[in-house]
Amino acid sequence: MYCVAVVIAMGTQPPVSDQYLQAVAGSLEMYVDPLPQMPKIYGYSMFNGQPSSIKLTIGMYQKKWKFHRDLPPTTVFVYGTDPVTATFPGPTIEALQGVPLWVTWKNYLPAHHILPWDPTIPVAIPSHGGVPTVVHLHGGVNPPQSDGSAFAWFTADFRDVGPKWTQATYMYPNIQCPGNLWYHDHALGLTRANLLAGLIGAYVIRNATAEAPFGLPSGDLFEFHLVIADRSFYKDGSLYMNYTGDNPTIHPEWQPEYFGEAITVNGKAWPFLVILRRRYRFRILNSSNARYFNLSLSNNLPFTVIGSDSTYLHKPIETPTILIAPSEIFDVLIDFTNSPTQFAEMMNTAAYPYPTGDVPNKPEW
Ligand SMILES: *[C@@H]1O[C@H](CO)[C@@H](O)[C@H](O)[C@H]1NC(C)=O
Ligand SMILES: *[C@@H]1O[C@H](CO)[C@@H](O)[C@H](O)[C@H]1NC(C)=O
Ligand SMILES: *[C@@H]1O[C@H](CO)[C@@H](O)[C@H](O)[C@H]1NC(C)=O
Repeated sequence: MYCVAVVIAMGTQPPVSDQYLQAVAGSLEMYVDPLPQMPKIYGYSMFNGQPSSIKLTIGMYQKKWKFHRDLPPTTVFVYGTDPVTATFPGPTIEALQGVPLWVTWKNYLPAHHILPWDPTIPVAIPSHGGVPTVVHLHGGVNPPQSDGSAFAWFTADFRDVGPKWTQATYMYPNIQCPGNLWYHDHALGLTRANLLAGLIGAYVIRNATAEAPFGLPSGDLFEFHLVIADRSFYKDGSLYMNYTGDNPTIHPEWQPEYFGEAITVNGKAWPFLVILRRRYRFRILNSSNARYFNLSLSNNLPFTVIGSDSTYLHKPIETPTILIAPSEIFDVLIDFTNSPTQFAEMMNTAAYPYPTGDVPNKPEW
């Protein structure tokens, strides 16, 4: 005998107001957490000075992540080589131009999603439960079987797979120019929920010989990724996602855009970075769902843009502001040598939704 089953998304909490979400974000003091650098995973090995291909295994895990000193830990879905070192955003993958990399992406996610999702839109629904995932390397010139089609999704242990799934191990040829890519989830109908939960990460293709003549700041002390993601939180630290559909008679939970009240960078809300009076390189990735960022520095120093999505520009361009759309990447230099101040804020003035919405009431980030 069967009873009616009711499935309630884990983490679904009662509706809250904009004021509540703003109050939670507003209670988080800015610039108290240091900016982390995400762990690096090298996509090659060196032998006798020659790089060679390797095969990596990268997992997706549910874990707790501290977004701010004063916010309780948040349950997230994250990439990593094991659950202890997995991070929000995931590790930065360092690849070499011309050295193919094999990655087996493994789903260790639990039976239920931590965020609401709407079954009335075209969505991956596995027969045995679990969270469908598939990884897309954004900007990568990849064979179709390794591109992460939305229909090539899979659940834990590949128990259920989508109609276009062909293989567990993806091959990234890295034949394109050196530059900035990013990897993220791409499962049918779940991409926004899986990215919001934390399945995002940076991927770099390098060519030391070709790039050395540029004389750019390099190494962990002077070259940073900034993965920007806006998120809203409940008071208990859990991620907020509005699950009241804009048109609930058709799609009860689906909303086309997400705007978070807190701006996180490398997994911390409004972090700070102590720097020297010298040049720095920042690879800025907007991994927000819908928010644009119009970035500028409070001490009026310019950005020198040297690259955008996946490759270098022909020549550097100096500009006081940069407008970054979702999923866009800017590779910039900032020279702090002659900063007129000891302290500078990177500010965002973009309206949201862009360009016709409200402007942030205080500079964000
Ligand atoms: C959630 O979405 C509904 C439907 O669009 C809207 O009425 C409500 O104000 C939203 N809630 C918040 C906190 O933005
Ligand atoms: C970005 O902000 C600056 C002021 O900081 C403004 O002059 C500029 O018009 C903005 N750009 C866009 C595209 O909104
Ligand atoms: C950041 O990327 C998201 C998509 O990933 C986009 O919707 C948003 O507008 C972007 N914002 C900026 C500032 O680039």
